[in-house]
Amino acid sequence: MVRPTDCSESISSTNPDAEWWKKTTVYHIYPRSFYDTNGDGIGDIQGIIEKLDYLQDLGFETIWISPFTQSPQKDFGYDISDYHSISPQYGNMALFEKLVQELHRRNMKLVFDLVLNHTSDEHAWFKESASSRNNPKADWYIWKDGKGKKGTKPPNNWRAMAGNKAWTYYPERKQFNYTAFLPFQPDLNYRNPEVKQAMFDVARFWLNKGVDGFRLDIISAIYEDPDLRSNPPSLRLIPSDKSLTIFFQNLKNNFLQEKSFEFATELRNVVDEFDNPKRILIGESHGEEELIKKFCYNNGRNGLNAIFLFKAISTPFKAKSYREMLMTFEKHFPDPLIPTLVFANHDRTRVITRLGGSIEKAKLLALFQFTCRGIPFTYFGDEIGIPRVRIPLKQGKDAIAIQHGWLPQFLIDRSIEILNRDECRTPMLWNEKSNAGFCTDSAKPWLPVAENFKDINVEKQLAEPCSLLNFYKKVIRLRNATPALNSGSLEIAHELCSKAILAYSRIFHGTKYMVLLNMSRSRVKNPVHNAEILLSTHHQNEVHQLQPFEGRVVIPGRQ
Ligand code: GLC
Repeated sequence: MVRPTDCSESISSTNPDAEWWKKTTVYHIYPRSFYDTNGDGIGDIQGIIEKLDYLQDLGFETIWISPFTQSPQKDFGYDISDYHSISPQYGNMALFEKLVQELHRRNMKLVFDLVLNHTSDEHAWFKESASSRNNPKADWYIWKDGKGKKGTKPPNNWRAMAGNKAWTYYPERKQFNYTAFLPFQPDLNYRNPEVKQAMFDVARFWLNKGVDGFRLDIISAIYEDPDLRSNPPSLRLIPSDKSLTIFFQNLKNNFLQEKSFEFATELRNVVDEFDNPKRILIGESHGEEELIKKFCYNNGRNGLNAIFLFKAISTPFKAKSYREMLMTFEKHFPDPLIPTLVFANHDRTRVITRLGGSIEKAKLLALFQFTCRGIPFTYFGDEIGIPRVRIPLKQGKDAIAIQHGWLPQFLIDRSIEILNRDECRTPMLWNEKSNAGFCTDSAKPWLPVAENFKDINVEKQLAEPCSLLNFYKKVIRLRNATPALNSGSLEIAHELCSKAILAYSRIFHGTKYMVLLNMSRSRVKNPVHNAEILLSTHHQNEVHQLQPFEGRVVIPGRQ
């Protein structure tokens, strides 16, 4: 029997008891690339406001916006020169306040990207700190005498996360300055209580403006070993999502310090000063689950609400690998903790490209992401399948691309992950007009729009019932309306899992929903055919078989 599926049936009401952030869905906006309303080729806050209806219609309840405060833009906002004002490229404070109002009016939330670890080297604090060894801000950053007779060798062997050396010499102080990321992003010294207070006040400033929480940039780097001891060697060169062992060393002394986990608790206390409504903290850290979960819960104390789990990005798209991943995350993040799987962001390759361009796989991944336990994050444009846009390293605007411009392009082309982060930051594709509707005809988008925008764009996909975009809409709406999917427990149905199939249930107050994912390119026997289909990635379904890369949400035992 063949029957079409529709998710509008059997929808129950949302669970009112779960905390909002546990059942929410987050859309991540890279503001430069989302929607330009003033014709400068760069997206802006007004553009975000104008597209809120689109996001609300899809069913997203929360947005996270990459930084838009004052910055020289060498790392496009992740290098902040003033935490209290908006970069004129994006708008002004009045517009930001309007955005908050517009979101809250729609019952939506805003997650602010808070860069605590470092400032720009153009921040007034750093300029003062770098000017001498005895100014009032002398100890606000990490400074250290060099080694060797003349003191010209770096204090230790630390590498930064972006691959470069972690120390830069400043002749004014005759000392080295430490940066966990790029040399123009000096790390603040959190062992200085004044720094901590100043940055907690930055958090309070934005909480007072009404933001609903923070995404904490590179929180893994907030503290360093107090004695700045060198890192032990390792054989690993290439970074991985699993650990912080890269560039022939284990970054154990400049990342993931015990003090960083304590910091999470302190920050929690600051954020809890604002509890109507409750605000959230989501941290960015690589590393083993066993360690990074300490950001959320450590020595009996609560810290961050969630930590990004980057392992999800590099887990092979196979039933067995996904099952193991789920088991690991469920083991380390059992309720009341919650896993937050990362499949893409503004630093990584586009989802559809990693999936070999397959829309079927992209739908299946969306089904998985919105039905497994965790807070789903969607990077802008992945809902329509914007691909990685190849931009040669030498033409890169991204600071990492500039730094690696010497690498032969053929090596880069062979890798699925990106060194030139411009490639995943190209503009949103709104329609088939010139510049894909991202900016006006006469404007020049800051990065090229994907060439195939006439085939891939929001307007077109909204009109096609079976498009990736419409599938996102269905699965998000189903999740939002179904307590079992947005806040139920998760049980892996091991007896139904196979080389091809991943199967799990979501259960809430005795109501059970089952998710079946055929992650193989073959047609397979449907292990749960006596069931009502609530949603399928495929338009037409067979009762006894799952088609290649078909996924379903079903209610077992109900026809
Ligand atoms: C984080 C951000 C990245 C930024 C870096 C330094 O990893 O995601 O975009 O360049 O931190 O702030």
